[in-house]
Amino acid sequence: MSKQHLVAVIGAGPAGIYGARKLTEAGHRVLLINRDIKPGGLAEYGIFLDKEKMKTGLRKQFQRILADGKISYLGHVTVGEGKSLTLKDLQEIGFSAIVVSAGAQGTKKLGLPGEDLIGVYHAKDVVYHYNKLPPFSQRHFEIGTRVAIIGMGNVMVDVANWLLNYMNSAEVTVVARRGPKEKAYDDSEFEVVEKYLDNDDLRKEIERIRPDLENVGQNVDEIMQKFVKSTTPPPNQKLRFRYLCSPTKVVANSDGKTAGLEVELNKLILEKGRTVAKGTGQQTQLPLDCVIYAIGDEVDSSLGLPFSRGAFVTNPAELPGDPNPAHYQSYDPATKQVLEGIYLMGWSRNASVGLVGIAKKDAELGIKVVNADLAAKEGFELTAVDQKIEAVMEKLKGNKVTFVTKDDVVVLEAKEREEAKKRNFWEHKYASDDEMLKIIAAAKNAAS
Ligand SMILES: Cc1cc2nc3c(=O)[nH]c(=O)nc-3n(C[C@H](O)[C@H](O)[C@H](O)COP(=O)(O)OP(=O)(O)OC[C@H]3O[C@@H](n4cnc5c(N)ncnc54)[C@H](O)[C@@H]3O)c2cc1C
Ligand SMILES: NC(=O)c1ccc[n+]([C@@H]2O[C@H](COP(=O)([O-])OP(=O)(O)OC[C@H]3O[C@@H](n4cnc5c(N)ncnc54)[C@H](OP(=O)(O)O)[C@@H]3O)[C@@H](O)[C@H]2O)c1
Repeated sequence: MSKQHLVAVIGAGPAGIYGARKLTEAGHRVLLINRDIKPGGLAEYGIFLDKEKMKTGLRKQFQRILADGKISYLGHVTVGEGKSLTLKDLQEIGFSAIVVSAGAQGTKKLGLPGEDLIGVYHAKDVVYHYNKLPPFSQRHFEIGTRVAIIGMGNVMVDVANWLLNYMNSAEVTVVARRGPKEKAYDDSEFEVVEKYLDNDDLRKEIERIRPDLENVGQNVDEIMQKFVKSTTPPPNQKLRFRYLCSPTKVVANSDGKTAGLEVELNKLILEKGRTVAKGTGQQTQLPLDCVIYAIGDEVDSSLGLPFSRGAFVTNPAELPGDPNPAHYQSYDPATKQVLEGIYLMGWSRNASVGLVGIAKKDAELGIKVVNADLAAKEGFELTAVDQKIEAVMEKLKGNKVTFVTKDDVVVLEAKEREEAKKRNFWEHKYASDDEMLKIIAAAKNAAS
């Protein structure tokens, strides 16, 4: 082989890593660039902290994929405007293609008064905190004893799990804009917090909204039977639901800290077969110490791609082919042009949608499109491929960015396993970038 394609993959979460494997299977070289020191994305820093089997299984798979000599890795490198590298830097160095699989790192805000108060957090930050991702791992969170979680998806369950089982929160209230039947969480996931459910309160809450549920044809007795259990929660810890409530304001006390959540009561209507929440104009207030939004995330616009309503814009064309190639292409709606050679995958293409398996499948289908496009293009001389990777490292050094390589990650992960063994626990994570970089530097010094 005299020529080879070199693809830059931005983001080493499940989409980036499984996508990289598909690229190397087609014979291409990959430069995987990752914000975090360690690879894995939400598989490392999102999936709940006690899911040992799932997390170790994914880690092992990722380690095997990254061991491929055709993949180079640069960690602790953020791509974006004013970050370690810009997209333009990569375009100037010149890659056969750029795959953006950086997940959904932007914060979806509701734009409420009081949203920036102490004690108001986005679930992603909390999840990153308890999963020990720097710098969130080192940040202090004012949780208090009464916490509202807004949203009713699986992330809500994870946050409730952490609050009730790890932080001993006294009262966790889930605030949902629609009703029990419109829950987005899985019952199997909910089991970890079910013992805290305040069933008397839940019965009353469903009774309160009975007319609204019946108005949209829902069978309230069936709902009662499915949702209300016969168990009694512990005396000092309770999980409650407030349905048909849309937050309108976070209320502060005289110290400027969170003291309550003002919500508008909703009714339900049916629109094209879908149950939709509609405000009634009636307000009520829930007394609280902390509010956590678990309403999904959006992509990070600072990455530098055309962005609209929380998402990177993709080519809207309906082109023939399975998968539809257009759906993976970055697109500028202002010029109505595809951004040639830039592709979106995983949660960067579809923010906050689906499990690891969905992100994997999305990347694998996306890389099919990339590989088809590359088949029609000429690659680079082999020496040029190495020079381009070198050029990225030189650029980072020039920008005074301390980056880590694949070998560094291997050293770090071995040290974490060693430390875990000493502590007789299944994993150990260093919670600051400084600690991780020191361990890597010490190993390098010892080897030289
Ligand atoms: C709290 C939570 C719990 C979950 N639990 C489960 C579960 O139990 N089981 C399950 O199957 N799925 C679970 N999921 C879903 C799963 O984590 C996602 O489907 C999957 O991780 C998405 O993969 P991704 O690669 O698209 O994005 P991510 O996993 O977010 O990976 C993105 C990667 O890009 C990097 N990055 C970000 N920005 C930049 C940048 N500007 N420059 C360079 N690199 C960048 C990040 O460092 C990260 O490594 C969970 C999700 C959440 C939020
Ligand atoms: N253990 C696991 O397997 C696990 C754990 C965590 C996450 N995940 C996956 O990761 C993905 C993301 O999960 P997620 O929980 O973040 O998202 P999600 O499943 O989409 O749930 C988001 C919740 O927030 C609500 N919401 C959205 N916008 C809102 C707004 N403006 N005001 C009030 N409420 C709002 C939604 O209500 P509406 O329905 O009314 O829109 C919904 O209840 C999902 O695919 C999930 O399954 C899996």
